[in-house]
Parts: sequence; C-alpha cells; structure tokens
Amino acid sequence: MAVAWQDELDAVRGRWVATAAQAPDLAGLRSIEVEALGKQGEVTLLVRKVATIAPEDRRAYGAAAAAVKAHVEQAIEARRHGLERAEIEAELADDSFDETLPAQSILGRNSRQGHSHPLTQVQAEVEAVFTSMGFHVLDYPEVESEFDNFEALNIPGWHPAREMQDTFWLQGGHLLRTHTSSGQVRAMHAFQAPFRAIFPGKVYRYEATDASHEHTFHQLEGLLIDRHVSVGHLLDSMRTLLSAILKRDVEVRLRPGYFPFVEPGFELDVQCQLCGGAGCSACKQSGWLELLPCGLVHPQVLRAGGLDPAEWQGWAFGLGLSRLVMMRFQVPDVRLLLSGDLRWLSQF
Ligand code: PHE
Repeated sequence: MAVAWQDELDAVRGRWVATAAQAPDLAGLRSIEVEALGKQGEVTLLVRKVATIAPEDRRAYGAAAAAVKAHVEQAIEARRHGLERAEIEAELADDSFDETLPAQSILGRNSRQGHSHPLTQVQAEVEAVFTSMGFHVLDYPEVESEFDNFEALNIPGWHPAREMQDTFWLQGGHLLRTHTSSGQVRAMHAFQAPFRAIFPGKVYRYEATDASHEHTFHQLEGLLIDRHVSVGHLLDSMRTLLSAILKRDVEVRLRPGYFPFVEPGFELDVQCQLCGGAGCSACKQSGWLELLPCGLVHPQVLRAGGLDPAEWQGWAFGLGLSRLVMMRFQVPDVRLLLSGDLRWLSQF
C-alpha cells in the first residue's frame, strides 16, 4: 500500500530540486538552502517528523526522508558549482578592466602624491657624481659675512668686481651670499689639505629679473685642493659631470673668464638645449648658456684659507644649478623654478 507520506516526500523533493536548479545567483541559492535545509527548513522538519510516524513505518520513513535531504543537498551543490563557474567565466570575458590604469585610480583614491622638486632631483644627481669621485657634500650659511663672501675671495671693498654681484646687505656687515664661493675659505679652514668638496645652495642677487635672471637661485660650488692640480683635470671633471647630468652629448665652449678668486679663470658655456643654439629668450638669443664658471684657485684665496700657495693648489667651479635644471627639463623661464606653481611642478 502506497503510504501518504511517500507522496509528500516526493513532492517536497521535486519542488526543492527544481527551485535550486533555477536559483538566479549565489545569494538566491543561499536563501533557498536556508529555507530547505536550515534549522527550520522544510526538508529538515520533514526529517524530524520521523518521531510522529507509526512505529512500524519509522525505519522506511527515516530512510526515505534522508534520501530526500541528500537529493536536495546535491541539487543545491550542483547549482552552486554552476553559478560559480559562470561567475568566473563572466569575469574572464569582461574586457572593460583597464590594466594600464595607475594603482591609485583602481583603488578609486586618486591620492595626490608629492615628489621632490626638479632642483632637488638634479642636485641629488650631481651629488651622486661627485661623491663617487670622493667629494664631501657641505652645507654653508646663506647669511654670510662680508669677509667670506668677498674679502677672502680676493674682492676687497674698493674692487670693481663687487659690482658684478649686486648684493642684499643686512645689518652688521652681513649679507645674503651672492655665490656659493663664500664657502671656499670656510672649507679650507674646516678640512686638512688635500680635500675635495661640493657645496650646493641658494644664492641671492639684488637685480632685475627676466627669463634668465632671478634674485634667488641655486648654485653648486666645487673645490678641490691638492699638491698638484691642472686645468686639464678640472675640465675633465666638468665633462664627466655634464655628460652624466644632461645624459647626451653637449656642445661646450671655453672662454677666458674673470673672477678675482681664480687664476686663470674660465667660462664654460653649454649650447642652449632649448633652441639647439639658434637663439631664444632663455639664452638671450646667443645660442649659449653660461653654466660653469671655473678656474684654478688664486694664491690669495689659498692664503686666506690658511694654505701655503707654495705647497697647495686648487681648482674651483660654480655650477649654475638653476640653469642646469633649465637645460635638463627644457624650462624656458628661470622664474618658474621657485614659483611654487603646482601646474608647473606637477610635470616633473
Ligand atoms: N662664484 C662665481 C659666480 O657666482 C662663479 C665661480 C665659482 C667662478 C668658482 C670661478 C670659480 O659667478
């Protein structure tokens, strides 16, 4: 005799197997699972109903209800498998993902990350070149004595060369250094000869500004003291420096240059990288930029530094760091460098 509960079990199994097979997605399947197999689920309650069955039918009922439960579990498992595969295939087929997006955009954060100033970048590169050649990197004051900035460098008060560098004077014989050469004699007193050092920093000149002149700009001084130095060694060091920093072959020219603290003195000019030598506002139409005044240290300066010129010699250069940055990044106007303008800075 077919028992009534057998029909009920068949009906429940058929319904949940069909429902599971049609689950639209994993979340839907999960609630179907709870409704059928959860603590109060329909199938669970059916299994528990064994207690209410007539004792002679209990064994048969228990086995049939367990089979229904196993069936429904299988159906749910099969559907879960299918849905997960479909999900992975949809992900693989989706080509709207742009793997070239920067990480910040993927995270949706678009954080504004800072970076070092182009002057700082180039200064670090120059420092790396010179430290690899055994140079110290020194930091000297921007507020200087008249002595260190001028007198010690063979530029007494009456000397017309003072007019080469119009000066911001402060009280008490102090001034804003007009060049990093103000560190030369300090370095000679601070180190025992022989030594080699560079000192980068800001310098100040009281003058009208234009595309190639700023009242505040950056230089990098180099000073080498030894028993025998030569112009050849100086020039070779300058060539090493320029090819390392500009990362290309550059045309240079050497002219005699007058600075009271070197003898002989030179101007090392670099062909303007902005106009390729044709002439532009940055090079004042000349096609050349003064970049590296240099020379052999004057005996008077050695003496001011406590060194005997009969025993010691030296060479020095005053690299125009701001100009080097202009060459390197093709900056048409020196005034952009310290403008603080983020539209300009964010390009580097
Ligand atoms: N101090 C000089 C200037 O600012 C440059 C210079 C440095 C020249 C060292 C010769 C040697 O113009």
